[in-house]
Amino acid sequence: MADESAQAMGAGSLTDDDVAGYAPLQIALHWMVVVLVAFQFFAHEAIEDIWRSHVQNEPLQGATPALANLHVAAGILVMVLALLRIALRVIRGAPPPPQDEPRLLQLTSELVHWAIYVFLILLPMSGLAAWFLDVETAGLVHKFLTTLLLAAIALHIAGALFQHFVRRSQVMMRMLRPQRS
Ligand code: HEM
Ligand code: HEM
Repeated sequence: MADESAQAMGAGSLTDDDVAGYAPLQIALHWMVVVLVAFQFFAHEAIEDIWRSHVQNEPLQGATPALANLHVAAGILVMVLALLRIALRVIRGAPPPPQDEPRLLQLTSELVHWAIYVFLILLPMSGLAAWFLDVETAGLVHKFLTTLLLAAIALHIAGALFQHFVRRSQVMMRMLRPQRS
C-alpha cells in the first residue's frame, strides 16, 4: 500500500507491499457498476422526455414516471458504489501493471480509470442538480458527460481486449479472478 502512489504514477516495480490482484468485493463492485451504467444508457428515454417537456414547457405525452424514477435511483446507486470503490482502491490498493508494460500504456490506463471514476461521480451530481434543483445547464452538462463516459468506456474496453489478445497479459483476467488478501 505504501507504494500505491508510486504505482499510480506508473512506476511499475513490484514490492512486498503490492497487492497481487483485486479482492472479491472490488470485482463484484466493478461488474455491478457495469450493469447499472449499461442500464442507464438503455433506459433514459422516460427521464429525457419528462425533462424535455419540463424545460420546453410542453405537455407530457406517454412517458413513464416510474422508469424516470428508476434512472434516478440507479444513478444514485452508481455514485454510492463508485465512492465505495474509490475508498477500497485507496485503502486496499490495486494490482500494479505488468512490469514489461510500456510506461505510456500504464499511464493511459491509470488516467482512463480515474477519468471514469470522476465521470461516475459528476454524472449523478449533474443529474441531481437538473432533476431536483431545476438547473437547466446541469441537464446539458449531464448529456455532455454521458458522451465523455462512453468514450472513456470504449477506450477502457479496447485496452482490456488489447491486453488479453495482443499483449497476452493477465490484466483482463484479474477483473474476473479474485485475489484474497
Ligand atoms: C452514472 C449515472 C448516470 C448515467 C450513466 C446517466 C445516463 C444518462 C443518459 C445516457 C441520458 C440521455 C442523455 C442524452 O440524451 O444523450 C441521461 C439523461 C438524463 N439523466 Fe441521467 N444518468 C445517470 C444518473 C442520473 C441521475 C442520478 C439523475 C437525476 C437525479 C439523472 C437525470 C437525468 C436527466 C434529468 C436526464 C435528461 C437530460 C436531458 O435530456 O437533457 N441521471 N442520463
Ligand atoms: C466488457 C467490459 C469491461 C471489461 C472487460 C473490463 C475490464 C477491466 C479490467 C481487466 C480492469 C483491471 C485493470 C487493471 O487491473 O489494470 C478494470 C478496471 C476498471 N474498470 Fe473495467 N471493464 C469493463 C467495463 C467497465 C465499465 C463499463 C466501467 C465503468 C462504468 C469500468 C470501470 C473500471 C474502473 C474504474 C477500473 C479501475 C479499477 C481500479 O483499479 O480502481 N469498466 N476493468
